[in-house]
Amino acid sequence: MSPIVVECLNHWFGAGEVRKQAIYDVSLEVDRGSLTILMGPSGSGKTTLLTLMGCLREVQDGSVRLFGAELKGAGIQTLEAMRRRLGFIFQAHNLHESLTARQNVLAGLQVHGRGDPARHNVAVEHMLRLVGLGDRIDYLPGNLSGGQKQRVAIARALVSNPEVVFADEPTAALDHDSGMAVVRMLKTLGQERGTTTVMVTHDNRILDLADRIMTLEDGRIVGDQRKTP
Ligand SMILES: Nc1ncnc2c1ncn2[C@@H]1O[C@H](COP(=O)(O)OP(=O)(O)OP(=O)(O)O)[C@@H](O)[C@H]1O
Ligand SMILES: [Mg+2]
Repeated sequence: MSPIVVECLNHWFGAGEVRKQAIYDVSLEVDRGSLTILMGPSGSGKTTLLTLMGCLREVQDGSVRLFGAELKGAGIQTLEAMRRRLGFIFQAHNLHESLTARQNVLAGLQVHGRGDPARHNVAVEHMLRLVGLGDRIDYLPGNLSGGQKQRVAIARALVSNPEVVFADEPTAALDHDSGMAVVRMLKTLGQERGTTTVMVTHDNRILDLADRIMTLEDGRIVGDQRKTP
């Protein structure tokens, strides 16, 4: 079963005179364990589509099914249960400035409210080392570079082993090597654990790693290219 199924999705922002359609009749299915890249010009609807699929925006018209459950008209409890199975990596990293890297990543586990604390710490340190921050574990965000903060946010999103990861330009603040390392990590998670990733990027160097590249223009899908393995 596809973890994400979108059918005839439309979305509007604003009301009355300023009401403007941002998503037009989008339908797509995403394969489990795949890495899908969403491309398209600024304002084409990439973030809007990602947040609709990620339960971060109410579905107005059409259908979005996550793990078989319909999001349109779903209650808050269903949406929260869904969100716990997802990982988010956004353009703005939204770290807690008063918490260290370790505590920020730990927060990614605690929202899920399961597992024992000792094991949590092991998982947090492991994830921070994976993103190359083994020597910054107890730093506050204020003492980290933009790229390092972004990597803390990536560790926080992945530490809970989400089934689906939604990423909005996760490598924008990273240099070439750390950017590629992050995407390779997501790709490996897909192969080893079946983690499904949908990622917005403008970064051409990442395209080779994708299983599928979808292009949005003016709120519509205008390209859908699958790599044959
Ligand atoms: N909260 C909002 N209120 C009103 N209009 C919005 C809102 N968010 C997005 N839009 C509009 O919806 C359209 C799609 O925006 P979206 O942020 O999805 O684009 P994007 O493809 O992610 O662009 P970018 O590459 O610049 O991040 C744009 O016309 C934008 O102005
Ligand atoms: Mg965007």
